[in-house]
Amino acid sequence: MSSADPFRLGWFGNIASPEWKNAFPGNDARQWTDGRFYVDMVRNMERAGFDFMMLEDSLMVPDVYAGTAELELKHARYAPKLDPVPIVSMLAYATEHIGIVATASTTFYHPFHLARQFSTLDHVTRGRVGWNVVTSSEDRAAQNYGLDALPEHDLRYEMAEEFMEVTDALWNSWDADAVLADRETGYYADFRKVHTVDHVGKFYRSRGPLNTPRSPQGRPVICQAGGSPRGRDFAAKNADMLLNIPNGIDGMKAYRDDIRRRAASFGRDPDEVKTFFVIYPIIAATDEEARAKNEAWYAREQHNFEVQLAHFAATMEIDFSKFDLDAPIPEDLSTNGHQSQLENWRKQLGGKTIREGMSRMRVQSLELVGSPDTVAAQLDEAMQEVGGDGFLVYGQPISREYVAEMTDGLCPALQRRGLLRTEFSHPTFRENLRSF
Ligand SMILES: Cc1cc2nc3c(=O)[nH]c(=O)nc-3n(C[C@H](O)[C@H](O)[C@H](O)COP(=O)(O)O)c2cc1C
Repeated sequence: MSSADPFRLGWFGNIASPEWKNAFPGNDARQWTDGRFYVDMVRNMERAGFDFMMLEDSLMVPDVYAGTAELELKHARYAPKLDPVPIVSMLAYATEHIGIVATASTTFYHPFHLARQFSTLDHVTRGRVGWNVVTSSEDRAAQNYGLDALPEHDLRYEMAEEFMEVTDALWNSWDADAVLADRETGYYADFRKVHTVDHVGKFYRSRGPLNTPRSPQGRPVICQAGGSPRGRDFAAKNADMLLNIPNGIDGMKAYRDDIRRRAASFGRDPDEVKTFFVIYPIIAATDEEARAKNEAWYAREQHNFEVQLAHFAATMEIDFSKFDLDAPIPEDLSTNGHQSQLENWRKQLGGKTIREGMSRMRVQSLELVGSPDTVAAQLDEAMQEVGGDGFLVYGQPISREYVAEMTDGLCPALQRRGLLRTEFSHPTFRENLRSF
């Protein structure tokens, strides 16, 4: 059977506690806050051929489930965590080629603040930073920023559209040839090539120009994970890369085709928009060992159940303690948070009870279990159907063992099939992302 064209791998991460309960016991559970664990990890990923490491973020300690932070702080999935934006600097300083994507919310940043920070990061990473544009999904986050509640879902996207307009104008406020450093004339920068932006809009005002010079990529790589129709449009119009978790190969293909269609309708070349699907491979030396490991993963029913409840509470602000957990998910459930994820989960749960469904739920588009070669073959087959562009390895919470299984098991197996990069041909993240 012929192989798919080469595709890409990214890593979904955050700056939170690595796996501390089910992995080889080490010191990482307490020492991760110094960032060194993630430095080791990003170096391994670069060596193994990952295109990027993405760092998710949120801005609160969730306490929705039963009105307390107990379940969240017991499992430590969304809190505690560190702000990924400053961590980009340290990860970039330890590497040369890999892209590093940090999440920041358009609902809570001001465009000038964000544009300046990501311009700074683009400089110090030498053109390897990406911004995961999110609109946030929690009232608790809004309350940390002085609001009572989050603006409504589609209004947040309307704000995000204007936000991008302002950040783009600010990033373009320095022409590429504005810096002269001309000893003869005595001019460092040409004042005629540094422009105010004078933005006065519905949500934002900013005079500009930025006080940081134009960065290597001009604009950071824009990453987005919109799933709702409004979110998909936003992503198709603005993003270089998308993250999503559609169900199965058909769902992946439909999502990618839809995004490419939307990108074309905004006058963009669809090949400039790369789609990444979340996977959580379970890998061991042999298929049989991997199957046993997979069963052991699912057998941690109470643990998985609690983690999923905490996850729903955090990202959807839905308090499942109010429902009968031994009955199916209520029909009329809605959220002002991650709307498309709620729909996906509803489909995954099917008619199962909340308890049954959640105790066997894994964040993934495809179930991948086997030796490195088996999983590489499964990814190969999936990509032939879907048509491109890459997978986002989830594996949360992360452990050194899991990273090694991917970087020293799966990646070499993919490279042997010619499916994964073995080197980076360009200096900047966007160029590497568009290179095939
Ligand atoms: C892989 C993935 C990563 C995401 N990372 C974040 C994140 O770090 N922070 C956040 O607030 N939302 C995150 N989201 C949520 C999305 O930004 C978005 O709100 C969600 O997919 C629902 O889409 P919708 O708002 O268009 O319904 C993520 C979603 C996915 C699928």
